[in-house]
Amino acid sequence: MVCRSGMGIPFRLKCISCHAEYPENSKIYTCNKCGDLLTVEYDFSSPLSARIPEAWMRRPLFSLWKYKELLPILDISSVISLGEGGTRLYKCENLANKMGLRKVYVKFEGGNPTGSFKDRGMTVGISKALEFNMKAVACASTGNTAASLAAYAAKAGLTCVVLVPSGKVALGKIAQALVYGARVIKLRGSFDDALMIIREICSKYPIYLLNSVNPYRLEGQKTIAFEIVEQLGYKVPDNVIVPVGNAGNISAIWKGFKEMKELGIIDNLPRMIGVQARGANPIARAVKMRRDHVEFLEHCETVATAIRIGKPVNWKKALKVVKESKGTVEDVPDDDILSAQRLLAKLEGIFVEPASATTIAVLSKLLNSGIIEKDELTVCIATGHGLKDPEIVVNQLRSTMIELDARVERVIDYLKLIFA
Ligand code: F0G
Repeated sequence: MVCRSGMGIPFRLKCISCHAEYPENSKIYTCNKCGDLLTVEYDFSSPLSARIPEAWMRRPLFSLWKYKELLPILDISSVISLGEGGTRLYKCENLANKMGLRKVYVKFEGGNPTGSFKDRGMTVGISKALEFNMKAVACASTGNTAASLAAYAAKAGLTCVVLVPSGKVALGKIAQALVYGARVIKLRGSFDDALMIIREICSKYPIYLLNSVNPYRLEGQKTIAFEIVEQLGYKVPDNVIVPVGNAGNISAIWKGFKEMKELGIIDNLPRMIGVQARGANPIARAVKMRRDHVEFLEHCETVATAIRIGKPVNWKKALKVVKESKGTVEDVPDDDILSAQRLLAKLEGIFVEPASATTIAVLSKLLNSGIIEKDELTVCIATGHGLKDPEIVVNQLRSTMIELDARVERVIDYLKLIFA
């Protein structure tokens, strides 16, 4: 069954396993028949479809709602927006030279309203919650989802509950969730525990779940692909590198590229390369061992707390992305992540959080192993702002600071040492 969307082309929900279909106004997260995840499918045979490329080209890029025809909202008046999307795509020549690559770009998602790509999902997810007349929303989170959900819920006037793993969330993200007025529950357990608990609660009570099991939320995140293509002058990158935790984002971005091809805006597709932290690498392991399933990890540890996830719910979608795009998922150790974070800041003036720095940390490994080539165009998705987690940087670099008496000669003496 195909339903007519008020804003764009008709869409429906489809199960990723048994392909069961549901109408667009279904308030479900998983398939009623087999329990697997759902995805939003648009009817590209709709006459409106042919007019989309021209309409998109005409509109300026300052909000992802310029792509409204391919977003699953029925009524524009229910949209809650803080101006998300339209983030910078930086050409990183210093970094490219250092790495021995020709063209490296960083898509800086830290430029979103709450400092991460999650805002793209939440503008759609919270708008959907309003369409479903929900009064409360919830998520489990390693930090960014919580911060973003809390902000959009605040703007929409909804009650917001977030479950986070106690002691494993960067301070800035907790501060955001608190100041936006969310109920923050610190669980003595992992993110995976938190997600299991909140999924059960949301299945029993009228609380709308906005983790990446929510197919509507992921639709917002696919706009990263739309923007990259547009910002490269309708060119498709050879490689897109994405940090992977629950694997919702890499699947969403891939979907975005495929839909652009479906619309006839592009002719080819990029290779999708996921990166995990070595201490939380269930998908990288499965890819390396050429398995068709992911073995979950009970215990994970990494400085990249945003992607400290052992049981990624979107693992099936992620393996499909790897297969379809002829890509891969790699892992990188914590030391490399932290060095890459400093390198990007020092060479390009771009401050990203550790999870995002995995995309820089993996570059030399990809080049050396021949997965990417010197002359190719590579885009790294910097998913979150470095200011989310200042402690991690200050702890490493504290000893490079100096404290002096407030006297001019003291400062001059010190500067003489520096410039000597
Ligand atoms: N990068 C950052 C900065 C993140 O916060 C996350 C996920 C990811 C990458 C991975 O995205 O899960 O779609 O593969 N953060 C979630 C959260 C888990 O709760 O904020 P994914």
